[in-house]
Amino acid sequence: MTAPPRLEVQSLTRSFNGQAVVENVSFSVEAGQVACLLGPSGCGKSTTLRLVAGVDMPDSGHILVDGKTMCDAATHVPPERRSVGLMFQDFALFPHLPVSENVAFGLKGGFSANRDRVRELLARVQMSSHIDSYPHQLSGGEQQRVALIRALAPQPRILLMDEPFSGLDERLRDGIRDETLALLKEEGTAVLLVTHEPDEAMRMADQILLMRRGRIVQQGAPYNLYNAPVDREAAGFFSDINILTGKVQGALTNTPFGEFLAPGVADGQEVEIVIRPQHLKIDFDRAGRGPAPTAENGSAALARVRRARFLGRESLVEFITDNGEITLNATVPGVFLPSADTPMWLMLRRDRVFVFPKK
Ligand SMILES: Nc1ncnc2c1ncn2[C@@H]1O[C@H](COP(=O)(O)OP(=O)(O)OP(=O)(O)O)[C@@H](O)[C@H]1O
Ligand SMILES: [Mg+2]
Repeated sequence: MTAPPRLEVQSLTRSFNGQAVVENVSFSVEAGQVACLLGPSGCGKSTTLRLVAGVDMPDSGHILVDGKTMCDAATHVPPERRSVGLMFQDFALFPHLPVSENVAFGLKGGFSANRDRVRELLARVQMSSHIDSYPHQLSGGEQQRVALIRALAPQPRILLMDEPFSGLDERLRDGIRDETLALLKEEGTAVLLVTHEPDEAMRMADQILLMRRGRIVQQGAPYNLYNAPVDREAAGFFSDINILTGKVQGALTNTPFGEFLAPGVADGQEVEIVIRPQHLKIDFDRAGRGPAPTAENGSAALARVRRARFLGRESLVEFITDNGEITLNATVPGVFLPSADTPMWLMLRRDRVFVFPKK
């Protein structure tokens, strides 16, 4: 028999003043997995986390840890008996305690009874030399590492993290995220991490739970959410997007860039054709002639450069089609800075285009 998921949440609902803030939310997290609750401000991420922690009660739904019910209509296991570790944005360390006692805080007997475990954890995050330091003597990144191992010291079955990296200097962040991830994987903890930053979710998650207005609108591996978004909003959450509109006739829509498939969409219905800026194909103009149409890229449409900017890793070029109707942004790796009004041919890679019925 396979083990039940480390954390399982079924049909969780929570309302405040008659307004559902978390609605019918279901997901599960396996041991050693990181699941990211990702969504805009106010969509219900922290509320979901508080329900799992047990500091708030759902109106309905079930929460199970290792197959054991923590919460349902008849049960409410208190937070301290859920084997859940917490790490929040303001992960305040205890200022009057040295690092050793901060890390040992959740362990019976404090540091003196748990020297080996505390030393081992400090070594794993390269903080051994700070064992006697006080929090005010540590940098932001060092404090964050102490907070992380403090949460992990009692070996919780589940670690809940609410925007744990948002207080950190941007240059520190990627390194600390990677270190954190490595430690979490080693410990085999199941992690539920809340963030509103898609980059952070892509970097950390095995599984992304994309939330909007209290509901999970899509869940899956980062690759799937990026490359097969459920709707325009989901596509636009991960990067800037270009949007063209068209009307469907015979499961196809015709545009200056050729035809696009719109399977299952009724005749006359409007659709939005969505493509990320890095997936445009750009070709130079050769005496008014563009590349021949292909199955991969459709037809080319003539456009002119409005503006080109260098962004460091890539260049961003804004185009407007020659009929003046469609503006499109393209990104190109490295330096690509054509001057304004340069005519160029644009194509949309068919394997990178998403077609959605217009809402
Ligand atoms: N105790 C409460 N009473 C009333 N409304 C609440 C309560 N807690 C949360 N809310 C409301 O529920 C909604 C979701 O809040 P939540 O804190 O879960 O959002 P979030 O997704 O974590 O947002 P952020 O990214 O800004 O932290 C918000 O509109 C908030 O005002
Ligand atoms: Mg929040």
